Amino acid sequence: MAQAELSCFDERCGARYGITEVLYNCTKCGGLLEVRYCGDGYDPAALRRLFRERRMSQASLDASGVWRYRELFPFLDDYKHVVTLREGNTPLLEAPRAAEYGRLDRLAFKHQGFNPTGSFKDNGMTCGVAQARRLGMRRVACVSTGNTSASMAAYAAAAGLEALIFLPHGQISFGKLAQALEYGARTLEVEANFDQILALVRALAARLGIYLLNSVNPFRIEGQKSIILEMLDQRDWRAPDWIVLPGGNLGNTSAFGKALREAREAGLIDSMPRLAVVQAEGAAPFYEFVARGGEFQAVEKPATLATAIRIGDPVSWPKALHEIRSTGGTVEKVSEQEIADAKAQIGRSGIGCEPASAATLAGIRKLTARGVMDRGADVVAVLTGNLLKDPDYIYRYHTGELEAPDGTKIRSSFGNRPVVVPNDPDRIAELLR
Ligand code: F0G
Repeated sequence: MAQAELSCFDERCGARYGITEVLYNCTKCGGLLEVRYCGDGYDPAALRRLFRERRMSQASLDASGVWRYRELFPFLDDYKHVVTLREGNTPLLEAPRAAEYGRLDRLAFKHQGFNPTGSFKDNGMTCGVAQARRLGMRRVACVSTGNTSASMAAYAAAAGLEALIFLPHGQISFGKLAQALEYGARTLEVEANFDQILALVRALAARLGIYLLNSVNPFRIEGQKSIILEMLDQRDWRAPDWIVLPGGNLGNTSAFGKALREAREAGLIDSMPRLAVVQAEGAAPFYEFVARGGEFQAVEKPATLATAIRIGDPVSWPKALHEIRSTGGTVEKVSEQEIADAKAQIGRSGIGCEPASAATLAGIRKLTARGVMDRGADVVAVLTGNLLKDPDYIYRYHTGELEAPDGTKIRSSFGNRPVVVPNDPDRIAELLR
């Protein structure tokens, strides 16, 4: 078994800690932490074969689309700590109609909305909760724009842990709030935004004896690597040219970059895809930072209808910056109208997703128009959440009632209004002629 440790992400600091220390940041420099491994390495051909063979297995670890790839995140000493809901196992879907909208010849969506709680958070949560159990924690907590809380509530319930959830009051979709309640989490709606509440909960963590399961937790990041590993496996380890994803707190960007670096080091792929991160215009601090340079500046009042990515001060930006640079990637921002229309197009492809996920296709459309991405490029976009997470948004868009946070009306360019008809066969036949 490989040796695992926690390491400061900042190379200039280089502090290292034991894998069972309860830390979210480096105690020397305050930097982000990353799980690192040292060991003998694996034969890539044997690993590929092993991952494929496990698809035939009924063992719960093998049936999980996360733990199937466990050799690439061997941080546990004992797999008895794992609680799995058969997360991962999400499809890679060809979407010709969406490709056309994005001005690409071909486009595939890796749809994380097919997860047990409907978002990519489940990939990370199964690992975070396993580490919580290994550490003997009884109480787990998170701040969330909705999906992390839904996921943590489910995994905590399955693991018999107490779940404590902090939400920005009135700023998360009803579908996500409903999940947290149904899975039995203690749910606190705080009158503040995501960034403010994250600071609050980090200050409270030690006092309340809680284990924090936000994406600043490095074990969540280990699990989210499996999104990339499974996608590469589904493509027989042919790396795409681009991987496009939405950016909020930037945990996923960090996880994807780490997964790609490690897959390359393990000899599983021989070229590096470029990461393209897309943010909503009203919550785009990472875009502004990469575009303008200088100091990183938080957006004090982030605003977007894509509430999942309504984050102004993303904690993982230093990791994300490293991954964007080391993959030759890029960052784009898109408007509320662009997100809404791209979302409708993903729906019309028979696929569907929640608003934040649609930032990917909106971003692709801009990147191809600007010539950053070629029409013939091999592109995978990651849809992070399920269509049913935010039905309110959908209904408003299709009926022409959707308004951006600043009050501007969103055009329902691809609207599909329901029609009220009388209970009268002749009138209905007339209407449908
Ligand atoms: N897409 C969806 C559907 C999300 O829920 C999130 C984040 C993101 C994208 C952005 O991912 O933070 O890794 O850059 N949601 C978090 C939450 C913050 O609390 O559920 P990121």
